[in-house]
Amino acid sequence: MAKVKTTFFCQNCGAQAAKWVGKCNSCSEWNTFVEEVIQKETKKAVLGSTNGRVKTPQKIADVAVSAEKRILTPDQEFNRVLGGGIVPGSIVLVGGEPGIGKSTLMLQLAITSSKKVLYVSGEESEQQIKMRAERLSKTPAQCFILTETSTQNIFQQIKGLKPELLIIDSIQTLHTASIDSSPGSISQIKECTAELLRFAKETSTPVFLVGHITKDGHIAGPKILEHMVDTVLQFEGDRNHIYRLLRSTKNRFGSTNELGIYEMQGSGLREVENPSEILISSNTGEPLSGISIAATMEGMRPMLIETQALVSTAAYGTPQRSATGFDLRRMNMLLAVLEKRCGFKLGAKDVFLNIAGGLKVDDPAIDLAVVCSVLSSSEDIEISANTCFTAEVGLSGEIRPVNRIDQRIFEAEKLGFSTIFISQNNLKGLNKSKLKIKIVAVKKIEEVFQRLFG
Ligand code: TYD
Ligand code: MG
Repeated sequence: MAKVKTTFFCQNCGAQAAKWVGKCNSCSEWNTFVEEVIQKETKKAVLGSTNGRVKTPQKIADVAVSAEKRILTPDQEFNRVLGGGIVPGSIVLVGGEPGIGKSTLMLQLAITSSKKVLYVSGEESEQQIKMRAERLSKTPAQCFILTETSTQNIFQQIKGLKPELLIIDSIQTLHTASIDSSPGSISQIKECTAELLRFAKETSTPVFLVGHITKDGHIAGPKILEHMVDTVLQFEGDRNHIYRLLRSTKNRFGSTNELGIYEMQGSGLREVENPSEILISSNTGEPLSGISIAATMEGMRPMLIETQALVSTAAYGTPQRSATGFDLRRMNMLLAVLEKRCGFKLGAKDVFLNIAGGLKVDDPAIDLAVVCSVLSSSEDIEISANTCFTAEVGLSGEIRPVNRIDQRIFEAEKLGFSTIFISQNNLKGLNKSKLKIKIVAVKKIEEVFQRLFG
Protein backbone atom coordinates (compact mmCIF):
# COMPACT_ATOMS: atom_id res chain seq x y z
CA MET A 1 0.00 0.00 0.00
CA ALA A 2 1.26 3.41 -0.89
CA LYS A 3 2.33 5.52 2.01
CA VAL A 4 -0.19 8.23 2.87
CA LYS A 5 1.40 11.56 2.23
CA THR A 6 0.13 14.64 3.96
CA THR A 7 1.07 18.27 3.82
CA PHE A 8 -0.11 21.35 5.66
CA PHE A 9 -1.63 24.20 3.69
CA CYS A 10 -2.41 27.75 4.72
CA GLN A 11 -6.12 28.32 4.05
CA ASN A 12 -5.51 31.98 3.49
CA CYS A 13 -2.67 32.10 0.99
CA GLY A 14 -2.08 28.50 -0.01
CA ALA A 15 1.46 28.28 1.38
CA GLN A 16 2.71 24.75 2.14
CA ALA A 17 4.60 23.45 5.14
CA ALA A 18 5.81 20.03 6.12
CA LYS A 19 4.47 20.37 9.65
CA TRP A 20 1.79 22.37 11.40
CA VAL A 21 2.64 25.94 12.28
CA GLY A 22 0.54 28.43 14.23
CA LYS A 23 1.39 31.45 12.15
CA CYS A 24 1.81 31.41 8.39
CA ASN A 25 5.26 32.55 7.34
CA SER A 26 4.13 34.03 4.08
CA CYS A 27 0.92 35.85 4.97
CA SER A 28 1.34 36.18 8.76
CA GLU A 29 -2.19 34.91 9.47
CA TRP A 30 -2.73 32.87 12.62
CA ASN A 31 -4.34 29.47 12.80
CA THR A 32 -4.82 28.99 9.10
CA PHE A 33 -2.88 25.75 8.56
CA VAL A 34 -4.82 22.55 7.90
CA GLU A 35 -3.56 19.09 7.14
CA GLU A 36 -4.45 17.62 3.78
CA VAL A 37 -3.78 14.24 2.31
CA ILE A 38 -2.08 14.51 -1.03
CA GLN A 39 -1.38 11.48 -3.09
CA LYS A 40 -0.96 11.76 -6.77
CA GLU A 41 -1.35 8.52 -8.71
CA THR A 42 1.04 9.22 -11.50
CA LYS A 43 3.34 12.04 -12.13
CA LYS A 44 1.83 13.93 -15.02
CA ALA A 45 3.99 15.21 -17.83
CA VAL A 46 5.24 18.66 -16.93
CA LEU A 47 3.31 21.41 -18.69
CA GLY A 48 5.42 23.12 -21.31
CA SER A 49 7.30 20.07 -22.53
CA THR A 50 4.30 18.79 -24.46
CA ASN A 51 4.81 16.08 -27.07
CA GLY A 52 8.56 16.26 -26.67
CA ARG A 53 8.68 19.37 -28.83
CA VAL A 54 11.29 21.85 -27.77
CA LYS A 55 10.30 25.48 -28.04
CA THR A 56 12.83 27.93 -29.35
CA PRO A 57 12.67 31.69 -28.86
CA GLN A 58 11.26 33.64 -31.77
CA LYS A 59 11.00 37.30 -32.61
CA ILE A 60 7.76 38.82 -31.41
CA ALA A 61 7.28 40.42 -34.82
CA ASP A 62 7.37 37.00 -36.44
CA VAL A 63 4.65 35.48 -34.28
CA ALA A 64 1.65 34.84 -36.47
CA VAL A 65 -1.62 36.00 -34.96
CA SER A 66 -4.81 34.51 -36.15
CA ALA A 67 -7.48 37.13 -35.60
CA GLU A 68 -8.88 36.21 -32.23
CA LYS A 69 -12.55 35.54 -32.75
CA ARG A 70 -14.66 36.31 -29.75
CA ILE A 71 -17.91 34.59 -29.00
CA LEU A 72 -20.63 37.17 -28.49
CA THR A 73 -23.38 36.40 -26.02
CA PRO A 74 -26.83 37.99 -26.26
CA ASP A 75 -26.04 39.72 -22.97
CA GLN A 76 -24.41 43.05 -23.84
CA GLU A 77 -23.34 43.79 -20.28
CA PHE A 78 -21.57 40.46 -20.05
CA ASN A 79 -19.76 41.01 -23.35
CA ARG A 80 -18.65 44.41 -22.20
CA VAL A 81 -17.23 43.21 -18.89
CA LEU A 82 -15.32 40.45 -20.67
CA GLY A 83 -13.77 43.06 -22.95
CA GLY A 84 -15.92 42.38 -26.01
CA GLY A 85 -17.13 38.80 -25.81
CA ILE A 86 -15.81 35.42 -24.72
CA VAL A 87 -12.30 34.54 -25.87
CA PRO A 88 -12.02 30.91 -27.05
CA GLY A 89 -9.89 28.83 -24.73
CA SER A 90 -10.14 31.33 -21.91
CA ILE A 91 -10.93 30.40 -18.35
CA VAL A 92 -13.07 32.79 -16.35
CA LEU A 93 -13.70 32.73 -12.62
CA VAL A 94 -16.94 34.28 -11.36
CA GLY A 95 -16.95 35.04 -7.64
CA GLY A 96 -19.60 36.43 -5.36
CA GLU A 97 -21.47 36.08 -2.11
CA PRO A 98 -23.97 33.26 -1.65
CA GLY A 99 -27.35 34.06 -3.10
CA ILE A 100 -26.16 37.03 -5.12
CA GLY A 101 -27.07 35.34 -8.41
CA LYS A 102 -23.95 33.63 -9.76
CA SER A 103 -25.83 30.48 -10.73
CA THR A 104 -28.61 32.54 -12.25
CA LEU A 105 -26.13 34.54 -14.33
CA MET A 106 -24.37 31.41 -15.54
CA LEU A 107 -27.57 29.51 -16.31
CA GLN A 108 -28.86 32.51 -18.19
CA LEU A 109 -25.65 32.51 -20.22
CA ALA A 110 -26.05 28.79 -20.84
CA ILE A 111 -29.63 28.89 -22.06
CA THR A 112 -29.40 32.03 -24.15
CA SER A 113 -26.19 31.13 -25.94
CA SER A 114 -26.43 29.84 -29.46
CA LYS A 115 -23.45 27.57 -28.81
CA LYS A 116 -23.62 24.06 -27.41
CA VAL A 117 -23.20 24.56 -23.68
CA LEU A 118 -22.56 22.09 -20.91
CA TYR A 119 -23.61 23.35 -17.49
CA VAL A 120 -22.09 21.20 -14.76
CA SER A 121 -23.56 21.68 -11.32
CA GLY A 122 -22.28 20.16 -8.14
CA GLU A 123 -24.72 22.10 -6.01
CA GLU A 124 -28.16 21.57 -7.44
CA SER A 125 -30.11 18.67 -8.88
CA GLU A 126 -31.34 18.49 -12.47
CA GLN A 127 -34.88 19.28 -11.32
CA GLN A 128 -33.76 22.35 -9.46
CA ILE A 129 -31.84 23.60 -12.47
CA LYS A 130 -34.80 22.90 -14.73
CA MET A 131 -37.09 24.82 -12.40
CA ARG A 132 -34.72 27.74 -12.38
CA ALA A 133 -34.42 27.63 -16.17
CA GLU A 134 -38.21 27.74 -16.42
CA ARG A 135 -38.29 30.79 -14.18
CA LEU A 136 -35.90 32.49 -16.51
CA SER A 137 -38.49 31.81 -19.22
CA LYS A 138 -36.08 31.68 -22.08
CA THR A 139 -36.16 28.91 -24.62
CA PRO A 140 -33.01 26.89 -24.14
CA ALA A 141 -31.28 26.36 -27.44
CA GLN A 142 -28.54 23.82 -26.92
CA CYS A 143 -28.02 23.62 -23.22
CA PHE A 144 -27.01 20.38 -21.55
CA ILE A 145 -26.90 19.92 -17.82
CA LEU A 146 -24.88 17.49 -15.79
CA THR A 147 -24.81 17.02 -12.05
CA GLU A 148 -21.42 15.61 -11.35
CA THR A 149 -18.49 16.47 -9.15
CA SER A 150 -15.71 14.19 -10.30
CA THR A 151 -13.54 15.82 -12.94
CA GLN A 152 -12.69 12.46 -14.49
CA ASN A 153 -16.37 11.75 -15.11
CA ILE A 154 -16.93 15.27 -16.39
CA PHE A 155 -14.13 14.92 -18.93
CA GLN A 156 -15.52 11.58 -20.04
CA GLN A 157 -18.91 13.19 -20.74
CA ILE A 158 -17.24 16.09 -22.49
CA LYS A 159 -15.51 13.69 -24.86
CA GLY A 160 -18.86 12.44 -26.11
CA LEU A 161 -20.77 15.71 -26.06
CA LYS A 162 -18.06 18.07 -27.33
CA PRO A 163 -19.54 21.26 -25.88
CA GLU A 164 -18.44 24.65 -27.20
CA LEU A 165 -18.73 26.25 -23.78
CA LEU A 166 -18.30 24.71 -20.35
CA ILE A 167 -19.71 26.09 -17.12
CA ILE A 168 -18.74 24.67 -13.73
CA ASP A 169 -20.90 25.57 -10.73
CA SER A 170 -18.85 25.61 -8.51
CA ILE A 171 -15.13 24.90 -8.46
CA GLN A 172 -15.30 24.22 -4.72
CA THR A 173 -17.55 21.19 -5.25
CA LEU A 174 -15.27 19.45 -7.74
CA HIS A 175 -12.85 16.72 -6.89
CA THR A 176 -10.28 14.83 -8.85
CA ALA A 177 -9.29 11.24 -8.23
CA SER A 178 -5.63 12.05 -8.58
CA ILE A 179 -5.58 13.78 -5.21
CA ASP A 180 -6.80 12.29 -2.01
CA SER A 181 -8.28 15.18 -0.07
CA SER A 182 -11.85 16.35 0.33
CA PRO A 183 -13.60 18.64 -2.20
CA GLY A 184 -13.10 22.30 -1.49
CA SER A 185 -9.66 21.81 -0.01
CA ILE A 186 -6.81 23.83 -1.38
CA SER A 187 -4.99 21.03 -3.15
CA GLN A 188 -8.25 19.84 -4.78
CA ILE A 189 -9.21 23.30 -6.01
CA LYS A 190 -5.73 23.81 -7.41
CA GLU A 191 -5.60 20.47 -9.19
CA CYS A 192 -9.16 20.64 -10.58
CA THR A 193 -8.50 24.12 -11.94
CA ALA A 194 -5.25 22.95 -13.49
CA GLU A 195 -7.11 20.09 -15.23
CA LEU A 196 -9.78 22.44 -16.54
CA LEU A 197 -7.13 24.91 -17.63
CA ARG A 198 -5.39 22.22 -19.63
CA PHE A 199 -8.73 21.24 -21.19
CA ALA A 200 -9.52 24.86 -22.09
CA LYS A 201 -6.16 25.53 -23.71
CA GLU A 202 -6.00 22.22 -25.56
CA THR A 203 -9.49 22.36 -27.05
CA SER A 204 -9.97 26.15 -27.22
CA THR A 205 -13.20 25.76 -25.30
CA PRO A 206 -14.02 28.65 -22.98
CA VAL A 207 -14.60 27.55 -19.38
CA PHE A 208 -16.51 29.47 -16.70
CA LEU A 209 -15.93 28.62 -13.08
CA VAL A 210 -18.19 29.77 -10.28
CA GLY A 211 -16.22 30.40 -7.10
CA HIS A 212 -17.39 30.89 -3.54
CA ILE A 213 -16.03 33.75 -1.56
CA THR A 214 -14.89 33.89 2.03
CA LYS A 215 -16.23 36.10 4.78
CA ASP A 216 -13.87 38.92 3.93
CA GLY A 217 -14.79 38.92 0.28
CA HIS A 218 -11.91 36.99 -1.28
CA ILE A 219 -12.44 34.01 -3.52
CA ALA A 220 -12.27 30.89 -1.37
CA GLY A 221 -9.24 28.77 -2.03
CA PRO A 222 -5.68 29.65 -2.69
CA LYS A 223 -4.69 32.97 -4.18
CA ILE A 224 -3.00 30.97 -6.91
CA LEU A 225 -6.46 30.20 -8.31
CA GLU A 226 -6.76 33.82 -9.38
CA HIS A 227 -3.33 33.66 -10.98
CA MET A 228 -4.20 30.55 -12.96
CA VAL A 229 -7.35 31.83 -14.63
CA ASP A 230 -7.45 34.44 -17.41
CA THR A 231 -10.25 36.56 -16.04
CA VAL A 232 -11.73 37.09 -12.60
CA LEU A 233 -15.22 38.54 -12.43
CA GLN A 234 -16.80 39.68 -9.22
CA PHE A 235 -20.58 39.67 -8.95
CA GLU A 236 -21.66 41.99 -6.20
CA GLY A 237 -24.49 44.02 -4.82
CA ASP A 238 -26.64 44.33 -1.76
CA ARG A 239 -28.86 41.31 -1.39
CA ASN A 240 -31.66 43.53 -0.13
CA HIS A 241 -31.52 45.64 -3.25
CA ILE A 242 -32.27 44.51 -6.75
CA TYR A 243 -29.15 45.86 -8.44
CA ARG A 244 -26.15 43.68 -9.12
CA LEU A 245 -22.80 44.80 -10.43
CA LEU A 246 -20.49 42.61 -12.44
CA ARG A 247 -16.93 43.85 -12.55
CA SER A 248 -13.70 42.31 -13.65
CA THR A 249 -10.82 42.43 -11.20
CA LYS A 250 -8.44 40.73 -13.59
CA ASN A 251 -8.70 40.39 -17.33
CA ARG A 252 -6.00 39.21 -19.69
CA PHE A 253 -8.13 40.14 -22.70
CA GLY A 254 -9.55 43.51 -21.81
CA SER A 255 -9.77 46.39 -19.41
CA THR A 256 -10.65 45.87 -15.77
CA ASN A 257 -12.49 49.16 -15.70
CA GLU A 258 -15.62 47.81 -17.29
CA LEU A 259 -18.76 47.36 -15.32
CA GLY A 260 -21.97 45.48 -16.01
CA ILE A 261 -25.19 46.36 -14.25
CA TYR A 262 -28.12 44.02 -13.77
CA GLU A 263 -31.45 44.13 -12.09
CA MET A 264 -32.59 40.96 -10.31
CA GLN A 265 -36.19 40.34 -11.24
CA GLY A 266 -38.63 37.54 -10.65
CA SER A 267 -37.69 36.19 -14.04
CA GLY A 268 -33.92 36.42 -13.75
CA LEU A 269 -31.34 39.08 -14.34
CA ARG A 270 -32.18 41.95 -16.63
CA GLU A 271 -29.48 44.08 -18.22
CA VAL A 272 -29.57 47.71 -17.20
CA GLU A 273 -28.49 49.83 -20.14
CA ASN A 274 -28.96 53.21 -18.61
CA PRO A 275 -27.99 52.97 -14.93
CA SER A 276 -28.43 56.66 -14.15
CA GLU A 277 -32.16 56.56 -14.71
CA ILE A 278 -32.74 53.97 -12.04
CA LEU A 279 -30.31 55.43 -9.55
CA ILE A 280 -32.11 58.72 -9.36
CA SER A 281 -35.24 57.89 -7.47
CA SER A 282 -36.61 61.28 -6.54
CA ASN A 283 -37.65 62.37 -10.00
CA THR A 284 -41.21 62.34 -8.84
CA GLY A 285 -41.72 66.07 -9.07
CA GLU A 286 -41.44 67.86 -5.77
CA PRO A 287 -37.87 68.52 -4.64
CA LEU A 288 -36.92 67.45 -1.13
CA SER A 289 -34.23 68.80 1.13
CA GLY A 290 -31.19 66.63 1.78
CA ILE A 291 -31.01 65.21 -1.72
CA SER A 292 -28.39 65.96 -4.33
CA ILE A 293 -27.19 64.23 -7.47
CA ALA A 294 -23.57 63.35 -8.16
CA ALA A 295 -22.08 62.66 -11.58
CA THR A 296 -19.72 59.79 -10.80
CA MET A 297 -17.77 57.26 -12.83
CA GLU A 298 -17.81 53.56 -12.16
CA GLY A 299 -14.83 52.32 -14.11
CA MET A 300 -15.38 53.69 -17.58
CA ARG A 301 -19.10 54.32 -17.18
CA PRO A 302 -20.55 57.63 -16.13
CA MET A 303 -23.39 57.26 -13.66
CA LEU A 304 -25.57 59.79 -11.96
CA ILE A 305 -26.24 58.78 -8.40
CA GLU A 306 -28.48 60.26 -5.78
CA THR A 307 -27.04 60.99 -2.35
CA GLN A 308 -29.38 61.52 0.56
CA ALA A 309 -28.51 63.11 3.88
CA LEU A 310 -30.42 63.65 7.08
CA VAL A 311 -29.09 66.10 9.64
CA SER A 312 -30.95 66.40 12.92
CA THR A 313 -30.24 67.52 16.46
CA ALA A 314 -28.75 64.71 18.48
CA ALA A 315 -31.18 63.27 20.97
CA TYR A 316 -28.43 61.93 23.18
CA GLY A 317 -25.04 63.27 24.18
CA THR A 318 -22.91 61.74 21.47
CA PRO A 319 -24.13 62.51 17.97
CA GLN A 320 -24.56 59.59 15.62
CA ARG A 321 -22.83 59.38 12.30
CA SER A 322 -23.75 56.75 9.82
CA ALA A 323 -23.09 56.28 6.12
CA THR A 324 -24.42 53.63 3.77
CA GLY A 325 -22.51 53.16 0.53
CA PHE A 326 -19.95 55.80 1.44
CA ASP A 327 -16.81 55.70 3.56
CA LEU A 328 -17.72 56.86 7.07
CA ARG A 329 -14.26 58.30 7.71
CA ARG A 330 -14.48 60.35 4.56
CA MET A 331 -17.90 61.63 5.59
CA ASN A 332 -16.50 62.67 8.98
CA MET A 333 -13.73 64.48 7.21
CA LEU A 334 -16.17 66.34 4.97
CA LEU A 335 -18.25 67.29 8.01
CA ALA A 336 -15.13 68.66 9.68
CA VAL A 337 -14.38 70.73 6.58
CA LEU A 338 -17.92 72.13 6.64
CA GLU A 339 -17.58 72.98 10.28
CA LYS A 340 -14.21 74.69 9.91
CA ARG A 341 -14.71 76.43 6.54
CA CYS A 342 -18.39 77.28 6.48
CA GLY A 343 -18.99 77.65 10.17
CA PHE A 344 -21.73 75.02 10.39
CA LYS A 345 -22.09 73.62 13.86
CA LEU A 346 -22.52 70.01 12.92
CA GLY A 347 -20.67 68.77 15.98
CA ALA A 348 -23.87 68.35 17.97
CA LYS A 349 -25.95 66.94 15.11
CA ASP A 350 -26.77 63.42 14.01
CA VAL A 351 -25.77 62.94 10.39
CA PHE A 352 -27.03 60.04 8.28
CA LEU A 353 -25.94 59.55 4.71
CA ASN A 354 -27.28 57.14 2.16
CA ILE A 355 -26.34 56.42 -1.43
CA ALA A 356 -29.42 55.38 -3.38
CA GLY A 357 -29.72 51.95 -4.96
CA GLY A 358 -27.50 50.15 -2.45
CA LEU A 359 -24.38 51.06 -4.37
CA LYS A 360 -20.99 51.63 -2.85
CA VAL A 361 -19.18 54.58 -4.34
CA ASP A 362 -15.42 55.09 -4.17
CA ASP A 363 -15.18 57.83 -6.76
CA PRO A 364 -14.05 61.01 -4.93
CA ALA A 365 -16.13 63.06 -7.36
CA ILE A 366 -19.15 62.32 -5.19
CA ASP A 367 -17.72 64.53 -2.38
CA LEU A 368 -19.37 67.74 -3.50
CA ALA A 369 -22.78 66.10 -3.77
CA VAL A 370 -22.38 64.63 -0.28
CA VAL A 371 -21.47 68.02 1.13
CA CYS A 372 -24.40 69.67 -0.65
CA SER A 373 -26.91 67.11 0.54
CA VAL A 374 -25.70 67.62 4.12
CA LEU A 375 -25.97 71.39 3.76
CA SER A 376 -29.38 71.09 2.16
CA SER A 377 -30.70 68.92 4.97
CA SER A 378 -29.11 71.04 7.65
CA GLU A 379 -30.60 74.25 6.23
CA ASP A 380 -33.79 72.51 5.14
CA ILE A 381 -33.57 74.11 1.72
CA GLU A 382 -34.03 71.83 -1.24
CA ILE A 383 -31.65 71.75 -4.18
CA SER A 384 -33.22 71.98 -7.62
CA ALA A 385 -33.74 68.52 -9.11
CA ASN A 386 -32.08 69.72 -12.31
CA THR A 387 -28.74 70.38 -10.67
CA CYS A 388 -25.92 67.92 -10.28
CA PHE A 389 -22.40 67.99 -8.87
CA THR A 390 -19.08 66.48 -9.69
CA ALA A 391 -15.94 67.46 -7.75
CA GLU A 392 -13.71 66.36 -4.95
CA VAL A 393 -13.55 68.43 -1.76
CA GLY A 394 -10.14 69.05 -0.22
CA LEU A 395 -9.26 69.54 3.43
CA SER A 396 -9.15 73.30 3.19
CA GLY A 397 -12.55 73.44 1.54
CA GLU A 398 -11.16 73.79 -1.97
CA ILE A 399 -13.08 72.22 -4.82
CA ARG A 400 -10.73 69.91 -6.65
CA PRO A 401 -10.89 68.71 -10.25
CA VAL A 402 -11.88 65.18 -11.25
CA ASN A 403 -10.96 63.01 -14.22
CA ARG A 404 -13.05 62.44 -17.36
CA ILE A 405 -14.99 65.62 -16.81
CA ASP A 406 -16.39 65.77 -20.34
CA GLN A 407 -17.89 62.31 -20.05
CA ARG A 408 -19.58 63.25 -16.79
CA ILE A 409 -20.95 66.49 -18.16
CA PHE A 410 -22.14 64.78 -21.30
CA GLU A 411 -24.01 62.16 -19.28
CA ALA A 412 -25.63 64.83 -17.12
CA GLU A 413 -26.74 66.71 -20.20
CA LYS A 414 -28.06 63.54 -21.79
CA LEU A 415 -30.22 62.91 -18.74
CA GLY A 416 -31.72 66.37 -18.89
CA PHE A 417 -29.90 68.20 -16.11
CA SER A 418 -29.70 71.93 -16.62
CA THR A 419 -26.85 72.86 -14.26
CA ILE A 420 -23.68 71.10 -13.18
CA PHE A 421 -21.20 72.25 -10.54
CA ILE A 422 -17.57 71.48 -11.32
CA SER A 423 -14.19 72.62 -10.10
CA GLN A 424 -12.67 75.76 -11.58
CA ASN A 425 -9.59 73.72 -12.41
CA ASN A 426 -11.65 71.41 -14.61
CA LEU A 427 -12.50 74.28 -16.94
CA LYS A 428 -9.14 74.15 -18.69
CA GLY A 429 -9.40 72.43 -22.02
CA LEU A 430 -13.13 71.94 -21.71
CA ASN A 431 -14.99 72.69 -24.90
CA LYS A 432 -18.17 74.35 -23.72
CA SER A 433 -19.43 75.56 -27.09
CA LYS A 434 -21.41 72.43 -27.88
CA LEU A 435 -22.92 72.05 -24.43
CA LYS A 436 -26.39 73.22 -23.55
CA ILE A 437 -26.05 72.46 -19.85
CA LYS A 438 -25.02 75.40 -17.64
CA ILE A 439 -21.60 74.85 -16.09
CA VAL A 440 -20.92 76.45 -12.75
CA ALA A 441 -17.20 76.42 -11.99
CA VAL A 442 -16.36 76.92 -8.33
CA LYS A 443 -13.17 77.16 -6.29
CA LYS A 444 -14.24 77.03 -2.68
CA ILE A 445 -16.97 75.34 -0.71
CA GLU A 446 -18.21 78.75 0.55
CA GLU A 447 -18.88 79.72 -3.06
CA VAL A 448 -21.05 76.65 -3.59
CA PHE A 449 -23.03 77.50 -0.49
CA GLN A 450 -23.52 81.09 -1.68
CA ARG A 451 -24.72 79.99 -5.09
CA LEU A 452 -27.09 77.33 -3.86
CA PHE A 453 -28.67 78.95 -0.86
CA GLY A 454 -27.79 82.62 -1.40
P1 TYD B 1 -28.38 32.19 -7.14
O1 TYD B 1 -28.09 32.34 -8.58
O2 TYD B 1 -28.84 30.87 -6.66
O3 TYD B 1 -27.17 32.68 -6.26
P2 TYD B 1 -25.71 32.04 -6.07
O4 TYD B 1 -25.53 31.00 -7.10
O5 TYD B 1 -24.81 33.24 -6.25
O6 TYD B 1 -25.67 31.54 -4.68
O7 TYD B 1 -29.45 33.33 -6.79
C1 TYD B 1 -30.38 33.12 -5.88
C2 TYD B 1 -31.18 34.36 -5.61
O8 TYD B 1 -31.67 35.01 -6.73
C3 TYD B 1 -32.33 33.91 -4.80
O9 TYD B 1 -32.26 34.52 -3.55
C4 TYD B 1 -33.53 34.32 -5.56
C5 TYD B 1 -33.06 35.23 -6.60
N1 TYD B 1 -33.69 35.01 -7.90
C6 TYD B 1 -34.60 35.94 -8.36
O10 TYD B 1 -34.92 36.93 -7.69
N2 TYD B 1 -35.18 35.74 -9.60
C7 TYD B 1 -34.89 34.66 -10.37
O11 TYD B 1 -35.41 34.52 -11.47
C8 TYD B 1 -33.94 33.72 -9.88
C9 TYD B 1 -33.59 32.50 -10.69
C10 TYD B 1 -33.38 33.93 -8.66
MG1 MG C 1 -25.24 28.96 -6.83
